[in-house]
Amino acid sequence: MKRRDFIQIACATGVGILAGCTSMSNSKTAHLASAELVIVNKHQQLKVAKASLNNNDIAAVAYQDKTIGLIKLAENSYTASILICPHQGCSVEYSNNEEKHYICPYHGAKFTQEGIVTKGPATANLTTLETTSDQNYVYIQLP
Ligand code: FES
Repeated sequence: MKRRDFIQIACATGVGILAGCTSMSNSKTAHLASAELVIVNKHQQLKVAKASLNNNDIAAVAYQDKTIGLIKLAENSYTASILICPHQGCSVEYSNNEEKHYICPYHGAKFTQEGIVTKGPATANLTTLETTSDQNYVYIQLP
């Protein structure tokens, strides 16, 4: 992580360290994306540059004590999930092999790129966040 990226995220989100993101940091496919906190119609959103993502690429976005996985599915199609397993609250990882999915390293639960559970023991989906985009940016709607 470049020092400038760290500072931008720390300033925008109030988070300096990606808590619980040790696994994501080790992934070859995840990288830290700079995010700017913006307010649109009284709703907080994280603004991420589209240029920071390729198809099926994941970016880790820090917000408060959470890590959000932002994936580009196709041109102008993005999905964002909070990377906390609904089974017992551990951090999930993204696997960018042929079967692109999230996996929880603790008990093996699997989730699609859109956060839908496909293998237990988790019985609920990842928490997903709505995304929108314009020409240059993706906006993640915060809860
Ligand atoms: S904490 Fe994720 S499967 Fe148990």
